[in-house]
Amino acid sequence: MRHHEHRRRWAVGLALAGCLAWITAAAAAKPPEKAVDWPGFNPAFAGATYVDDVSTCATCHEDAVKGFGSTHHARALAQGKAEANQCESCHGPRSKHVENPGDELAFDKLTTPQQSAVCLQCHQGGTRMGWKAGAHHRGDVSCTSCHDVMAKRSDRALLTKASATDTCYQCHADVRGDMSKPSHHPVREGAMDCASCHNVHGSKPGLLVKNTLNETCTTCHAEKRGPFLWEHAPVRESCANCHEAHGSANRNLLTIKDSFLCLTCHSYGGHINLPRYNRTNNPLGSGCVNCHVATHGSNHPSGAKQMR
Ligand code: HEC
Ligand code: HEC
Ligand code: HEC
Ligand code: HEC
Ligand code: HEC
Ligand code: HEC
Ligand code: HEC
Ligand code: HEC
Ligand code: HEC
Ligand code: HEC
Repeated sequence: MRHHEHRRRWAVGLALAGCLAWITAAAAAKPPEKAVDWPGFNPAFAGATYVDDVSTCATCHEDAVKGFGSTHHARALAQGKAEANQCESCHGPRSKHVENPGDELAFDKLTTPQQSAVCLQCHQGGTRMGWKAGAHHRGDVSCTSCHDVMAKRSDRALLTKASATDTCYQCHADVRGDMSKPSHHPVREGAMDCASCHNVHGSKPGLLVKNTLNETCTTCHAEKRGPFLWEHAPVRESCANCHEAHGSANRNLLTIKDSFLCLTCHSYGGHINLPRYNRTNNPLGSGCVNCHVATHGSNHPSGAKQMR
């Protein structure tokens, strides 16, 4: 909800503000409505008040002000439309710091959850509803593990690296290996990225974008969703019964090679009288699915054996 309000305001603000330099538009900004308890987070903030003037900060932090000036935040916060001081919404009240500068108020003096709380002052809603129950929060990852808000390094979302995928590989290098296997989702090719399937802010199982694995897959592979007249039970249960999500040495992202996959659950029984009995060594390669073409389910009246 809140996020959408921000987006609308930001769009309106952008239209009105035209090319006004952000730094001149800083009038009468207030701290975030639900500002964090700065002295509670770090006692060194006790007694400090908001300076609320970027040009004061700029006298000593020219580079930081310049880097920040290239980001979405600079524009969004400078319009005074996001209940905020510009620098101090994230850096806390700084009157004492201006008089007696030092690093005792530094961001990295906060715990990981406190760092995230600073961002959540304004970003609690949207995809981050489940943040506090999610694997990243529980794994001691903070917003700033993936976001660098002091400079624009990515086209969107202020990521620490140029793309979402490179941001993820900093910690999930094993997935890069999977994505290099012969069969893989086209992440390397740039047709999709990690965020196509994952909401890293969320708390759903596997941090997926949807409630279940199958629902996630069928957002793009809708023809596998069903329901079918003749269901194949393991498909209903989970695509992961037969497919890797990231990459595989087998064709079609299969977890196990062709016929051997089917034979983890089925036996040859029932095929005794059929031609080409030795199907595992079928020269055509794909084995069982040469005949059982509708392995994901069939809507054909006589598709019970997945032959059509
Ligand atoms: C949206 C939150 C946010 C805003 C707004 C913000 N900063 Fe930062 N700033 C951070 C975070 C987070 C860090 C710590 C970066 C890190 O640990 O990687 C930081 C780091 C810094 C540093 C340390 C050196 C550096 O560049 O990393 C300075 C100086 C600084 N900010 C000044 C400012 C000034 C001046 C403004 C206003 C023009 C400002 N910041 C606005 C979040 C913010
Ligand atoms: C008179 C000069 C001066 C002014 C004015 C000033 N700073 Fe600083 N600031 C410093 C110095 C010196 C450091 C310490 C650098 C270090 O130790 O690495 C620092 C460090 C910082 C840091 C990184 C460490 C920390 O404490 O978080 C941030 C962020 C920061 N200042 C933000 C601000 C903001 C925001 C303003 C404006 C409200 C501001 N500063 C005004 C001199 C100044
Ligand atoms: C005072 C309120 C406020 C605080 C605190 C704040 N933000 Fe934002 N943030 C905004 C607003 C407003 C926007 C613009 C909203 C929009 O465009 O939809 C924004 C946009 C963003 C975006 C999208 C930028 C883009 O280029 O697409 C990211 C990512 C983001 N913030 C991360 C953070 C992180 C990380 C922190 C903490 C270090 C933080 N924010 C702290 C208000 C805030
Ligand atoms: C594990 C990495 C990671 C962490 C941790 C993370 N983000 Fe993000 N964030 C991303 C990625 C990737 C995107 C781009 C998502 C997309 O492409 O849909 C994003 C997008 C955003 C956006 C812009 C789009 C939107 O959803 O509104 C905001 C704002 C944002 N993040 C804020 C935060 C805040 C606040 C935190 C901490 C509570 C946080 N992020 C933690 C990776 C991360
Ligand atoms: C700063 C390191 C770091 C970064 C960057 C990072 N992660 Fe994570 N990720 C973790 C940690 C720590 C965990 C939780 C512990 C674990 O399960 O390994 C985790 C867990 C996960 C999980 C597993 C959730 C589960 O339920 O098993 C997924 C999926 C995930 N991350 C995806 C991503 C994606 C996508 C990105 C990039 C947008 C990303 N991560 C960026 C550190 C990181
Ligand atoms: C096509 C969808 C899809 C894409 C694209 C995708 N993932 Fe996944 N990922 C999944 C599914 C499904 C799981 C399994 C979740 C479960 O078991 O609940 C998973 C699991 C994970 C896990 C936890 C288990 C593991 O394998 O380590 C991590 C970490 C992860 N993904 C990171 C990433 C990263 C990083 C990227 C981008 C390079 C990425 N994913 C791209 C669907 C995807
Ligand atoms: C965001 C869209 C998207 C999602 C979500 C998605 N896929 Fe895909 N999938 C694709 C694209 C794009 C391709 C490549 C199609 C091509 O190359 O023609 C692909 C290809 C495949 C292939 C064929 C791979 C090959 O080697 O030919 C399989 C199998 C597959 N996906 C299974 C899944 C499963 C299982 C899931 C859920 C874990 C899933 N997909 C989620 C978009 C998606
Ligand atoms: C019982 C094992 C099994 C399950 C479970 C399964 N698949 Fe498949 N899938 C296969 C096999 C085998 C192939 C190769 C089919 C062929 O060569 O004709 C395949 C191929 C694919 C392909 C690429 C070729 C095509 O038909 O488009 C996609 C995409 C795909 N599966 C998606 C899914 C999705 C999505 C799910 C979950 C809803 C799923 N699969 C569940 C066995 C399975
Ligand atoms: C994870 C276990 C599993 C895997 C792997 C699997 N199946 Fe199945 N299959 C089942 C189950 C369970 C049924 C439902 C059996 C029933 O209703 O008696 C079934 C039903 C079938 C049927 C219909 C049987 C009937 O009696 O009507 C066919 C044909 C079939 N599978 C072929 C395949 C093929 C071909 C593969 C490989 C692409 C495969 N299966 C992989 C578990 C699996
Ligand atoms: C040459 C075509 C062909 C190939 C290859 C083939 N099947 Fe079949 N399969 C059939 C036919 C035809 C039936 C239906 C028999 C019937 O209706 O009595 C059948 C029936 C089945 C059934 C249902 C059994 C039953 O009692 O009704 C299963 C399960 C099955 N096949 C699994 C497999 C597996 C696993 C493989 C690969 C190892 C495989 N099939 C390869 C043609 C084939």
